[in-house]
Order: sequence, then C-alpha cells, then structure tokens
Amino acid sequence: MLTHLTYGLLPTSLLALLTVLPVGSAWSIFEPRQSKEKPLNQVLASQKSLSTYYELVKQYPDILLQLPSYDGVTLVAPNNDAFDKFHDWDPQNKSLVTNLLEYHILQGTVSTASVPVGVSTFAKTLLNDKKYANVSEGQQMLINKGGDDVVVFTSGLGSRSTVVEPDLAFTGGLVQIVDTLMVPPARLEPTTRDAYKDLQSFLGALYAADLVSEFADATDVTILAPRNSAFQLVAGTLEDLDKKALANILRYHLIPNQVLSSTEFQNGTNLTTANDAIPDLTLHVTRAGNNVYFNSAQMLQPDILIANGVVHIIDAVLNPDARAATPDPAIGTQAPVFPVTGTKTAVGTKAPVPFTSDFPCTVDCPISTASSEPTGSADGAATTTTTGLRLSSSKGFAARCTGVPAQAGAAAAAAMLVGAVGMEFVGLV
Ligand SMILES: *[C@@H]1O[C@H](CO)[C@@H](O)[C@H](O)[C@H]1NC(C)=O
Ligand SMILES: *[C@@H]1O[C@H](CO)[C@@H](O)[C@H](O)[C@H]1NC(C)=O
Ligand SMILES: *[C@@H]1O[C@H](CO)[C@@H](O)[C@H](O)[C@H]1NC(C)=O
Ligand SMILES: *[C@@H]1O[C@H](CO)[C@@H](O)[C@H](O)[C@H]1NC(C)=O
Repeated sequence: MLTHLTYGLLPTSLLALLTVLPVGSAWSIFEPRQSKEKPLNQVLASQKSLSTYYELVKQYPDILLQLPSYDGVTLVAPNNDAFDKFHDWDPQNKSLVTNLLEYHILQGTVSTASVPVGVSTFAKTLLNDKKYANVSEGQQMLINKGGDDVVVFTSGLGSRSTVVEPDLAFTGGLVQIVDTLMVPPARLEPTTRDAYKDLQSFLGALYAADLVSEFADATDVTILAPRNSAFQLVAGTLEDLDKKALANILRYHLIPNQVLSSTEFQNGTNLTTANDAIPDLTLHVTRAGNNVYFNSAQMLQPDILIANGVVHIIDAVLNPDARAATPDPAIGTQAPVFPVTGTKTAVGTKAPVPFTSDFPCTVDCPISTASSEPTGSADGAATTTTTGLRLSSSKGFAARCTGVPAQAGAAAAAAMLVGAVGMEFVGLV
C-alpha cells in the first residue's frame, strides 16, 4: 500500500457534471457550477485526436454514470491513431467496449507530475467485471515515468501505452491522451504459456499438481514464478515428486489475498504464502540495492499484470524446506536450494523444458517444448512476439485447447482486445 499514489482529491461535483443520460439520447451535460474547469464533453470535443474516443463515450454513456462515485478520475484516452491500430473488434459489442473503456479509467486523479520517476506504481481502474478481471476494487494498471518525464502505462501481456498529451483538466479529474489502447491483463495461463514463454515450466508444473485453478481463479494474488532454467536445474528432483509434494512446493510461490507490486516488498519482512502444510511457514524478503530476493531467489522481472493479480519472475524454485536460505547480494547466482544432482535435463534453451508435457493439449497444440526463449522465437504456425495473441485468437491455440474451456473465453477476449494492437513486449531478463 505504501507506494500507491496518493491521489489529489478534486472538490468537484461529478453529479453536476454528468447528467444522467438515457442511452441513445442527445449528449448533453450541464455546465458545472465551478467555472474554471471545463466539463468533460467540452474537453473531449476540443481535442481533434480524440474524436473516435469521444464517439465511443457518447455511444456508451453508462460508463460515465459511474464516475460520480469516485473522488476524481483519470481518463486514459486513446487517440485516433490508437483506434486505427486496433482492428478486429466490434464497436457494437457493449460488454467488450464497456469493459475496455472502464480499464481506461483510473480511480483518482493521476497527474503526470505526481508519478514518481523510475518507480513502478500500480493504479486501480474501474474494470471490475469478473469476466475480465479478478482483482478486488478494480483491475490495475502499471504506471512508469522515465528520466525523460514521459509517462508510460503498462498492462496485460506487457503491452505499453505512452502519454502523448498530458494532464487535460476537466471538472471531474484529468484526461491523459495515449497512443495505444490498453489491454486488460490476461489470465495466468496465456500469460505464462504464450506471452512469457520463460514461464512455461512453471505453468506445466501447476498443471501437473492440479493447481491452475487455485492460482488463476483466486481473487487478488501475487505469484512468484521461477523461469524455465530454474526448473531445468532441479528437474530431476521435482519431476520425481508425487502430486502432493509438488503442490506443497508450488504453493510456496503463491501469496494469496494481496496484489503486491515490486516496490511494496520491504526489506526484512515475511510474507505468508498459500503453503499451509508447514506451520508458521513464511517467505523472507531481502532488498539489497536494486535487488529483491525471496529467501535466496532473486526477482528478475517484476510486475507482470494478470487477470487476478501480478506475477514476478524469479531465478530459482523456492523450497519450503529451505526457508532459512539467505542471499549473498555480492554474488550473482545464489546456491541452489534443491539437490542439483540427478537432473534429468540439461539447462539451456535447447534443453527440454520440464513439465510442459503436462499442458492439457500437448497433442493438438503447437507447443515447442525445446524452447525456453523469451517471446519472439519464430515457430511456424504462430510466430513473433504476438504469438500469445495469435495463439489465443479464434484460429489458434486456445480455441483448440478443448481441455480448458473456462479460460478459452477470457483468452479469446484478451486476444480480441490485443490481437491487432501492434504489441510491444517487455523483454525478458
Ligand atoms: C474470475 O474467477 C472466476 C472464478 O471465481 C472465474 O470463473 C473467471 O473466469 C475468472 N475471471 C478471469 C478473467 O479469469
Ligand atoms: C535488510 O535486512 C537484512 C536482514 O534481513 C539486514 O541484514 C540488512 O541490513 C537490511 N538492509 C537494509 C538496507 O536495511
Ligand atoms: C521474519 O522471520 C524471521 C525468521 O523466522 C524472524 O527472525 C524475523 O524476526 C521476522 N521478521 C519480521 C519483521 O517479523
Ligand atoms: C463481445 O465480446 C466478448 C469478448 O470478446 C465475447 O465473449 C462476446 O461473445 C461478444 N458479444 C457479442 C454479442 O458479440
């Protein structure tokens, strides 16, 4: 909680601003009593680059009716170019458009000046529909400001959206014009299987231990996900475990009921995990300079948003029986906490990725078990960094994975939102 933005409260009456509009009626908003700030419709109408967004907002006025319940909001408004880049969606699909626009509204007024430089900050949005997100009180978006003072929003599957016209004030808050549509974070499965392939082993292990639902359907989670090479290193040990023992280890990687951004891990604190098999088991956090460790495992890539929380990539599999393991920040690679001997596989991108044969659709689906490359490896049917998106489109992966119907819909929805956006992925470490 400590690092969440403290929002400025705007002393405005959104009720005065937003007259209840029957759907389909003319767009009419009363002038607010405050004279200095303009009403939202004036601000939107005055920006040529927002004409598409303005039309959509007028078409779906229900969204604006929620705004008065917040002490100010920030409209992250995609410009016309952003909508031009976004194909294959149906602007008449009310559920889709409503949820998409809700994901583009932050709770509280977030001015670009209030965003700290070089620190990732989570901000809650108005997206609450369980079909799209299982984060209580609103799905999050990640905000970053670089040294050049440019503010970037990061969302699902590492998609990024840059503020091109900052801080347009209206009576209920601020409008930030951005160059790309934001993608509501996808579920854990497509995120780890398709977008961050370096986490395929972790996902496979969850399937092997029957834990996917526990990790992906819970509301509010923080997941520490070891990369593939971490599993490769101890594959001989882990692959021989029975389901219960494996689950015992994997649950140590789940922090339930909290969505913790990387900046919220405080040095010397202990986290409660989903592993309740061992009494008083906690996970110890160490911060040393820019490094963050969980026991002795180092955080490699932080803050990957998913539908029900956040994933941080770590460099080693955590062992609940080695909870006293501490890092030596002076060295790059910490001692393994599982026996390395007896490894069935070698480490490296050419070596097999443990547990990927536990994916529910290995026969039908074009999974490359020999690749632990990050996104971007070309592999025939589904290629390039948009793999995850293409794979989960109607022609691809998720649609064929009949073993996982529950996630297919959400993945398809995410793909629909994402598919044509010209995604920029955050590279894997
Ligand atoms: C949210 O959780 C419910 C189960 O509680 C699940 O059915 C739904 O698919 C989840 N939504 C997403 C977007 O994952
Ligand atoms: C972090 O905590 C460790 C003990 O867990 C302590 O030895 C170290 O001095 C702390 N570092 C800082 C920067 O406070
Ligand atoms: C965290 O756990 C360790 C080991 O059990 C203990 O020594 C330490 O005091 C705990 N720290 C806090 C802040 O509770
Ligand atoms: C609207 O889009 C969602 C998400 O892609 C989809 O599940 C739903 O079937 C669509 N509804 C209509 C009426 O097309």
